[in-house]
Amino acid sequence: MTTDTTGTVARDGDSRPGGPADSPFIRACRRRPVPHTPVWFMRQAGRSLPEYREIRASVPMLESCRRPELVTEITLQPVRRHGVDAAILFSDIVVPVAAAGIDLDIVPGTGPVVAEPIRTAADVERIRLITRDDVSYVDEAVRQLVVELGDTPLIGFAGAPFTLASYLVEGGPSRTHAKTKALMYGDPELWHALCARLADVTLAFLRVQIEAGVSAVQLFDSWAGALSEADYRRFVLPHSTAVLSGLVDAGVPRIHFGVGTAELLGAMGEAGADVVGVDWRTPLDVATGRIGADKAVQGNLDPCVLLAPWPVVEAEVRRILEQGRAAPGHVFNLGHGVMPETDPEVLTRVVALVHELSSRRADQG
Ligand code: CP3
Repeated sequence: MTTDTTGTVARDGDSRPGGPADSPFIRACRRRPVPHTPVWFMRQAGRSLPEYREIRASVPMLESCRRPELVTEITLQPVRRHGVDAAILFSDIVVPVAAAGIDLDIVPGTGPVVAEPIRTAADVERIRLITRDDVSYVDEAVRQLVVELGDTPLIGFAGAPFTLASYLVEGGPSRTHAKTKALMYGDPELWHALCARLADVTLAFLRVQIEAGVSAVQLFDSWAGALSEADYRRFVLPHSTAVLSGLVDAGVPRIHFGVGTAELLGAMGEAGADVVGVDWRTPLDVATGRIGADKAVQGNLDPCVLLAPWPVVEAEVRRILEQGRAAPGHVFNLGHGVMPETDPEVLTRVVALVHELSSRRADQG
């Protein structure tokens, strides 16, 4: 084990020159110099790709997450097609919750739907702690992928306690998170018990992925932007901190992402992230001012821009690369996931453009 200047412990096995730990993506996460700005896309594996739709035509979503050979193939598809700088494990944030004993399904066009929503202390007890055996398909898929990917890093991920709690309490997707907030304000003790349990499940799920060989992890708190900073700090931050700080010795960079989080960026960084994901609402230079110069940023092209004519896309990519220079490390990404109607050729062009513009910049000193 070696300790770098960021205070993070690096694993000896994959820190050889040219290995995933020396890749532009991991270097940017650790705020080290990069040959070009690395780029990947949230939801890069998914419905924008015809080869994904073909596989999924006959296999339900959750089943596809539980078949290692399908997970491996779907995860590799965007790497082959676009030449992105990182792969992200094909799975879903509700996979560990289902493994923990909660009856749920992922309904096409809707998202996760929970059969019996969580409303009481007895309901919280139904969420069991998970071990590697409960998610052996994830362990197996990650091990296969690390071999297949070679020098390309694999990102593991999980949902953060607030976003998971929202699905579990609402019973499905919600615009207002009204039932979730009613529980949070009305029964803080139950709320904290629920989030503490979810933090334990999430931490166990991420540890399985790290032990199997992922090079970085991303904690998705997609819906945290529904809260004020004060409520975020009181009701959410301790639980996300339990997850991210629980991985401090794991030796892999930790990315923390949410949508609509302009007011929360500083707090989300404090939870124990090396990289903070930023949506399209906050320019990266402004975001860096809020997050602090000790963390890298990831983002933040509006996924809808990809539906516009190419000159619009190009101008936005240039602007984001420019604003990203204010940060001590920049991973190019979207501000949220790729939309299914996106033309995959535009994604491939964005990867090439980010590489070209950012390496030219390096040449010019
Ligand atoms: O490429 C990747 O980014 C990895 C795969 C991935 C999926 N889900 C696959 C998926 C990741 C990282 C997720 C995380 C996830 N799942 C989040 C956090 C990220 C975010 O988008 O904010 C959330 C909130 C979920 C819950 C969820 N699962 C939603 C809202 C949906 C979409 C419902 C729909 O059909 O529009 C899902 C299903 C899902 N997860 C799909 C994919 C590719 C679509 C299922 C399909 O192909 O039919």
